[in-house]
Amino acid sequence: MRTIDVWRGVLASTLIALGSASAADQPLAERPWMDSGRSADQRAATLLQSMSQDEKLALLFGYFSSDAPWKNYKKPQEGLVQSAGFIGGNARLGIPALTETDAGIGVASQPGEQARPRTALPSNLATAATWDAELAYSGGRMIGDEARLSGFNVLLAGGIDLARDPRNGRNFEYGGEDPWLAASMVAAQVRGIQSNHILSTLKHYAFNDQETNRTTLDARIDERSARMSDLLAFEFAIEQSSPGAIMCAYNRVNGVYSCESGWLLNQVLKTDWGYGGFVMSDWGGVHSTIPAANAGLDQESGYPFDVSPYFADALREAVDDGHVAQSRFDDMTARILRSMFANGLFDDPVSAGDIDFAGHALVTRADAEGSLVLLKNARRILPLGRDIKSIAVIGSHADAGVLSGGGSSQVYATGDLTFTNPHNERRRMIYFPSSPLKALAARSGAHLAYDEGTDIKAAVKLAARSDVVLVFAHQWSAEGWDVTLNLDDDQDALIAAVARANSKVIVILETGGPVLMPWIDQVAAIVEAWFPGTSGGEAIARVLTGEVNPSGRLPLTFPRSSAQLPRPMLDGYPEQAHARTVVDYTIEGAAVGYKWFDRQHLTPLFPFGYGLSYSRFVPSDLSATVQGNRVSVRFMLKNAGPLPGKTVAQVYVSPVQPAASGWEAPKRLGGFRKLDLMAGQSADVTLSIDARLLAAYDSSAGNWSIAEGDYNVLLSRDAATPVAVTTVHLVREILPLHP
Ligand code: GLC
Repeated sequence: MRTIDVWRGVLASTLIALGSASAADQPLAERPWMDSGRSADQRAATLLQSMSQDEKLALLFGYFSSDAPWKNYKKPQEGLVQSAGFIGGNARLGIPALTETDAGIGVASQPGEQARPRTALPSNLATAATWDAELAYSGGRMIGDEARLSGFNVLLAGGIDLARDPRNGRNFEYGGEDPWLAASMVAAQVRGIQSNHILSTLKHYAFNDQETNRTTLDARIDERSARMSDLLAFEFAIEQSSPGAIMCAYNRVNGVYSCESGWLLNQVLKTDWGYGGFVMSDWGGVHSTIPAANAGLDQESGYPFDVSPYFADALREAVDDGHVAQSRFDDMTARILRSMFANGLFDDPVSAGDIDFAGHALVTRADAEGSLVLLKNARRILPLGRDIKSIAVIGSHADAGVLSGGGSSQVYATGDLTFTNPHNERRRMIYFPSSPLKALAARSGAHLAYDEGTDIKAAVKLAARSDVVLVFAHQWSAEGWDVTLNLDDDQDALIAAVARANSKVIVILETGGPVLMPWIDQVAAIVEAWFPGTSGGEAIARVLTGEVNPSGRLPLTFPRSSAQLPRPMLDGYPEQAHARTVVDYTIEGAAVGYKWFDRQHLTPLFPFGYGLSYSRFVPSDLSATVQGNRVSVRFMLKNAGPLPGKTVAQVYVSPVQPAASGWEAPKRLGGFRKLDLMAGQSADVTLSIDARLLAAYDSSAGNWSIAEGDYNVLLSRDAATPVAVTTVHLVREILPLHP
């Protein structure tokens, strides 16, 4: 303890003796860890000294905070109903309980009668499609506010597993296929969440890139490829957001479960990257006591999801017997306390309060509007003209609301609508009551007629007598399952039939990720709306009518077929219980998404970064300078009109001598900027490129290195469309592993 602390303690106890100590000083005297002038590490170390072994152990073991009759389990009394997790507090020491809720789209609820209605952002993949870190931040701040006012101080958000496979059922919860984009967007949301003095996770660490057999599959990947792909996304996001906790994943990596992988946890996360927070398991992701604790797992989550309470008495015994060192046991506790101090959980405890749902509806609407991607707009049929007399609105419950993704991230909304998935009783599809039809009717003078789209003949009849046809098509996806690339329930047939009856068909897709579009040449326009959240219907209507200029860009590649993918057949699909699936990620290595398509010389349906606008944006004056191998890029961008709007300037880097570079693919995204410009307005943009995006990881040397040579800097509309190029020369450089 520092001298100042001793004197502070003496002073406080003197004041107590004099009877003049105020309540505020008293805790400081008895609880020196409450001195907010000291660092989180110092406060954690001080508090640790006052804790018994059992009090430390209590922090390392978390409970599921919902009843689980199928396991004959009742949630802890103090846990918040139908929520994800609870770790008891300590009144003697003033340690707050950890109340944990899912997740990155908003305050989720476990299914049941007492699901709490909260505001849902669009899917995290939609937020990534905005390429707008400010929007991501404001969305995170909003859901963190709702978490706090609901009594939660842990939001299990920060999903950032790369979209290695477009059929991953949880891609909607993540940030897409590129490490820099995913990290920039997910980190911004985590910063927004933690600005509420609660802590967020980043998850699922690592390579939980498919849902099929997620709890048993073994993801195989070499270290070099791992560091330059999924792990790089986590590394960037940790640096940019300092998440309170990392959630280790269900799956194995190179034969070892993530939550007991010394390489992933002790070596990469805590040693190489210097991560000072704590590692919590996924719910049911722990498979041992001693190996897991010694590999770097700090907290077991969600009892009774694991087959055994590994971090309860068994851990106490392991410490008593010396199989887990006391120093490691103390480190586990200290890391949790440190994250709690660092994120304000002690100094600014959460308490229930009123939520500004009206204000939050505008936050999620702005996110949704920025996420919609205009994929096709033949004859500039969009925005909808005011001269249109009749509009047919067909399919996907567009009269009632918009689709949301399923699983632990499921947010419930007041008045939401549940539909049974025709393929599986257990898959309940929830629509938020934000009707595109009603939102359009409020903005258009046309006569709107709705058809649910289940009877193709009826839909065709309506289409034939309408000026314009809006077909809403959906593909539901959820945690625990993967999807195919096909729209289900004959929606392709519906779209094709309607397109034969009317040449002005606009398809609006509500999907968790990419889908095939066999009707693409028969329709006039296509909008990817993702799962657009609580205000999604309004966002769709505002874009279709031109109130908002679409500015979303694809955060992942839309393939032409599954034959283009590294794994045409998803490993283990359809799922067989307890199958020991091996997923070989060495096929593509770090060449995920557009990098795979570049390396294999494949042309996708729509490339990464693709998206159209109602306006034309003209780049000019591209230049790049190098200061000590740090590349700075500058260019002008003009909105040539006719409408005000946003666009995304994308900068890719490509070695002129690819073989010498050691890169995984011909090019990488180096940086981007979302710009909001009035018609006729220009912006002078400067951005810099992180050195690791110019380097390759060398497993034998255990570091990153930049190869000497020339590198093209490409200012681009998307991954397939460079519009200006300049070249820089870099010299060989070894980069530090722990920046
Ligand atoms: C789930 C998910 C994880 C979630 C946790 C708590 O199985 O994998 O993302 O945060 O359990 O619900």
